[in-house]
Amino acid sequence: MHTDKTIFITGATGLVGGLLALRALAAGFHLRLLVRGSVNFSAKERIRQVFSFLGMPQEEWGVVRDRVELVPGDVTLRRFGLTIDAWQQAAENLQAVFHAAAYTGFDRSQVEKSVAVNIDGTRHVLKFVEQARTARYFHISTAYIVGDSRERIFEEPQNGPFPWKNPYEKTKCLAEQEVHGYCRQKGLNATVFRPAILIGDSRSGRTIRFNNIYNFIRVAHALSRRRSRQPVIIEAKATARLNIVPVDFAVDTIWDVSQLAQSGGKIFHITNPSPPSFVELVEAYSRILDLNIQCIDPSDRNCPDNPAKGRRIGAAFSEYGEYMFGEPEFDLSRSRALLADYDTRFPSLDEEYYRKILDFAVAKNWGNRQQAPPAIVPKTRETTYAERYFKEFLPAKLHKQLLSNLKNLNGIVAIHFRDMVGPDWMLELRDGMLTAISQNSLVPECTYDTALATFETVARGLARPEQVFFDGDADILGDIEKGLQVITALSEFFRSYPFNPREQLAVPQQ
Ligand SMILES: NC(=O)c1ccc[n+]([C@@H]2O[C@H](COP(=O)([O-])OP(=O)(O)OC[C@H]3O[C@@H](n4cnc5c(N)ncnc54)[C@H](OP(=O)(O)O)[C@@H]3O)[C@@H](O)[C@H]2O)c1
Repeated sequence: MHTDKTIFITGATGLVGGLLALRALAAGFHLRLLVRGSVNFSAKERIRQVFSFLGMPQEEWGVVRDRVELVPGDVTLRRFGLTIDAWQQAAENLQAVFHAAAYTGFDRSQVEKSVAVNIDGTRHVLKFVEQARTARYFHISTAYIVGDSRERIFEEPQNGPFPWKNPYEKTKCLAEQEVHGYCRQKGLNATVFRPAILIGDSRSGRTIRFNNIYNFIRVAHALSRRRSRQPVIIEAKATARLNIVPVDFAVDTIWDVSQLAQSGGKIFHITNPSPPSFVELVEAYSRILDLNIQCIDPSDRNCPDNPAKGRRIGAAFSEYGEYMFGEPEFDLSRSRALLADYDTRFPSLDEEYYRKILDFAVAKNWGNRQQAPPAIVPKTRETTYAERYFKEFLPAKLHKQLLSNLKNLNGIVAIHFRDMVGPDWMLELRDGMLTAISQNSLVPECTYDTALATFETVARGLARPEQVFFDGDADILGDIEKGLQVITALSEFFRSYPFNPREQLAVPQQ
């Protein structure tokens, strides 16, 4: 079936927007996608790659590409940065607008970005919807807009402030309030979806985002390949539940609800009707990985294992720490009223499924971006930054106890720049002090492998090295447990001692 109806989607290079786009294509629609280009790839190439990663066969792209129109734009900019003509044209003849673009990082240092993308971006999309006049509006929010509440949350507007855990929750909540306010004022009937934590497809394990519970699975998987029989300790309340939802269920539900006229003006939770507890998850992965994983709640004085001995892995994904001790209960009355089979169509999250999402993540190397082939990087600002970092900035920190949390840090760590030839930088640490920096042939216990530009954002204190790793923009080679311990501890160092040379770095003559 082909129709002349066009659907506009933001965030189609992301997980939800990408799958929604595939769903709309399968239903015969034309797509108009707001997409940013990147340094290396055009917007069209990015979409092709994402569709392919999401499972679209290569030959299928040739068939559907004529139904995919791209609008190169950025939601943070007024009129998406388009000329007024291009913006008006983009809003013509639309049947629906799905807004799935968002900044989904939890990083507290990225407040401005969260506000710009999630709140300002939503305002710009709402203006666009007003321009599009006849289009229905579908807003992708999140179930986690009420912060640290343990209450029952209904599918109604939630007017904070709430004890939000991070800028993501706060800006998503405020963005949703923008939608409700705008719709009241303009008489629009938006539909708001609030998905919980999205993980791999229930049939294939497929995803393009290896964050949230993948961080835990990834570390546990790496530890399972080592001989140690020591227990692996994760700080979480064993009975607390985690609302995980296979992404295919979420996208199918968004799509099906969007096709029903009576969904206009309503809010729908897309949450797990019976979410697993941490102990269930931990037991499943203990069996799958043949590991002894234990949940320890540090605040539970009655817990006989406190303080437990073992390998504690929680610090590596501390951004999720607050989600490990309980969450709200999400009411599903409205979703169930519209989709009578909501509960029965929810996939069973059994051990086979947990194994499937692990296998897919391993097969895709946890989404690690392809390493650039070694290239001789010319002496540019970036290489100069790295050289100045290791030759001028770090030497001034030698033999100093700079942070108390580093006291137990010992060993040799290498920094490898994947886009540069030449020896790695070796950092020798003793009792938390940096004792030597070299480029000699020492054998490191672990290597932090990333691109020069990514390292610069870390060393400037703009990104956390462990998060960069979990986001797939860096790898840890060698002893992953040691590597995570080191970079998590060093994270504090990079933030406390950022290297931000004020003067423009000179580009040396070749
Ligand atoms: N994934 C989850 O677990 C989850 C759970 C609940 C709710 N949600 C919600 O679902 C929606 C989609 O999430 P997701 O997981 O699909 O996120 P994602 O994979 O991180 O994708 C985010 C998308 O937003 C785009 N984007 C970011 N900044 C932009 C800008 N300035 N201009 C234009 N596009 C921009 C990204 O484009 P680039 O590729 O160019 O960066 C990408 O296409 C979000 O609203 C999120 O809050 C997600």
